[in-house]
Amino acid sequence: MKVWAGKTVLITGGTGSFGKKFAKKILEYDVKKVIVFSRDELKQYEMAQEVNDARIRFFIGDVRDKERLYRAFDGVDYVVHAAAMKQVPACEYNPFEAVKTNIYGAQNIIEAAIDRGVKRVIALSTDKAAAPINLYGATKLASDKLFVAANSYVGGKDTRFAVVRYGNVVGSRGSVVPFFKKMAVEGKKLPITDERMTRFWITLDQGVQFVMHSLERMKGGEIFVPKIPSMRVVDLAKAIAPDAEIEIVGIRPGEKLHESMITEDDARHTLEFNHYFVIAPEFPWCPQEYTTHGRGLPEGFKYTSDTNTEWLTVEELRALVNKL
Ligand SMILES: NC(=O)c1ccc[n+]([C@@H]2O[C@H](COP(=O)([O-])OP(=O)(O)OC[C@H]3O[C@@H](n4cnc5c(N)ncnc54)[C@H](OP(=O)(O)O)[C@@H]3O)[C@@H](O)[C@H]2O)c1
Repeated sequence: MKVWAGKTVLITGGTGSFGKKFAKKILEYDVKKVIVFSRDELKQYEMAQEVNDARIRFFIGDVRDKERLYRAFDGVDYVVHAAAMKQVPACEYNPFEAVKTNIYGAQNIIEAAIDRGVKRVIALSTDKAAAPINLYGATKLASDKLFVAANSYVGGKDTRFAVVRYGNVVGSRGSVVPFFKKMAVEGKKLPITDERMTRFWITLDQGVQFVMHSLERMKGGEIFVPKIPSMRVVDLAKAIAPDAEIEIVGIRPGEKLHESMITEDDARHTLEFNHYFVIAPEFPWCPQEYTTHGRGLPEGFKYTSDTNTEWLTVEELRALVNKL
């Protein structure tokens, strides 16, 4: 595709669930170079064994280290920012570590991108950033705000920043699917926090495709939100282990009963497209294309996992889990 042809793309967190899949996908296009930026040499070594392509480079670095980002961003056209601390309990227990990676890291990416003349930056966000109740979500909301606002201080440079926000990724590292599978194999009860609990649901492939499309169409300042289905967590347990016993363990600290992707307040400046929403920036420089092409939302609209119009059944969940 034209947007990717001849481009150098850097992925922070390139060895993670998302980053690895994204790197492999864009290597199918005519990109010039893909740079994987992350801290752990073992994960990079293992990825290098898996991806045999002369256009891939591995760069050890921490998003907390601005100097390293300046070095890494030399000659880079696009940055996809996927590095994060993302486990809710780890962020609660090590709050300042989460702030350093998710907020200071975001600021470093922004400054390095502007000064190094990167053209487009897409940062990955999460449904937990909408009306956050835990520190992970709060740091991601701060990060989203930094990326949206960054478009205001690019000066004469043509660097543009946008955000992609989506929900639980099926089967990613540390997610509920591998956990439920393990419990089922070990013949243990499946712990469910609350029978009413619902979540959004997106596959890694869909997430990768959506980030690619968002980078292709971004003008700057958008928070792109895909339209994705919801599921009941009890249905997921039934899909993975129909005969396993379920144990209700109660909602955990920092956990919501239902996730939110667009709050009622954000909906007032959100535009609807066929397959996605755009939460438009509330700055005077908001790209006019959005206001002319997207549809406004009705008063009181919110996009939450319990009010969603699209749901996955137990059978559909089982088919999705089996495909992983
Ligand atoms: N998984 C989900 O369900 C989900 C849902 C919505 C949004 N997201 C967002 O999507 C993004 C990617 O998630 P993921 O599931 O791919 O996460 P992941 O599998 O845990 O990968 C995280 C990546 O970030 C790197 N990293 C962590 N801290 C870093 C630092 N300080 N500097 C540089 N690299 C660092 C890790 O490698 P090293 O440890 O080697 O540095 C790894 O490559 C995150 O921003 C997350 O918030 C995820």
